[in-house]
Amino acid sequence: MKIAILPGDGIGPEITKQAVDVLKALKLGAELLEAQIGGAGYEKFGDPLPDSTLDLAIKSDAVLLGAVGDWKYDSLPREKRPERGLLRIRKELNLFANLRPAILYSELVGASSLKPEIVSNLDIMIVRELTGDIYFGQPRGIHENENGEREGINTMRYSESEIKRIAHVAFQIAMKRSKKLCSVDKANVLETTELWRQVMIDISKEYPEVDLTHMYVDNAAMQLIKNPKQFDVLVTGNIFGDILSDEASMLTGSIGMLPSASLDSNNKGMYEPSHGSAPDIAGKNIANPLATILSLAMMFRYTFNEEKIANKIESAVKKALSQGFRTADIYSAGDKKVSCSEMGEAVIASLN
Ligand code: IPM
Ligand code: MG
Repeated sequence: MKIAILPGDGIGPEITKQAVDVLKALKLGAELLEAQIGGAGYEKFGDPLPDSTLDLAIKSDAVLLGAVGDWKYDSLPREKRPERGLLRIRKELNLFANLRPAILYSELVGASSLKPEIVSNLDIMIVRELTGDIYFGQPRGIHENENGEREGINTMRYSESEIKRIAHVAFQIAMKRSKKLCSVDKANVLETTELWRQVMIDISKEYPEVDLTHMYVDNAAMQLIKNPKQFDVLVTGNIFGDILSDEASMLTGSIGMLPSASLDSNNKGMYEPSHGSAPDIAGKNIANPLATILSLAMMFRYTFNEEKIANKIESAVKKALSQGFRTADIYSAGDKKVSCSEMGEAVIASLN
């Protein structure tokens, strides 16, 4: 097992360290190779995705990433900004399938902003397409238009093959779960997603057991709050998935709990928390490392096919929560408030 460790920026290094410590405590003999990405890559090599980092990621079996971004880079040209490094590594490694599970741990039911009966036992899988859509579509940029004023342009586009491959991933996941798949689009307004819907319907014929439904994204945003348990697997494009997965994370109490896997067609993957780099709390040792630790569990499940190890990590997280350990984002009166590193230690202590 060769694992690239890319801590990145902000709270990235501190949360990644906790996941790496969990990995080391498992004593699996994994080879860990660290490199810079995002602002850290820019600082060292003038590039948010240095060639050496990309090479390392290509040669590794899996990548564990912390987070990228810091306001101090906002004035850099777009190509040099931390987010570019993240988007490029997703694209270069062809990580088109982003899995974002939103699971409510029963211990955290009070941390959700919704009523317990709405969110208890919530377990949703969002399948987000990750290498297409308006994120990458050309043309893009800020130009001067024919009236001499500035105009911003981004292009939403999906080819049939891009939709097909994410559809297969989503249907296969649905087959392993409750065989219910909801495809989210805006087919009433956007042709790109009209095609999305048609292709989803075509591919559904190969999965006759799966019950495919469709929902417009605005309604999906509402339904996720109104009655989230109506969903099991959701599949959607890059931009809608970005937004809906942040929304879904809050159902579970904190975005600090939401892991993710980004997979290519061979299940090679990059694993990262769904949250950002939170520069406002960086270096304070108060961030929640659980999303990163849970991302490590996903790595064992999806890339290494080691379901037992994945379960072991997830049970340890559950155990730490049931013992009352809480980082600030999920803390409520009566809990044991712990730092980022103490939460990591609590998970390690719960591994056996
Ligand atoms: C995410 C993030 C990224 C995205 C940003 C940091 C580029 O919000 O992983 O959801 O938009 O994909
Ligand atoms: Mg996002």
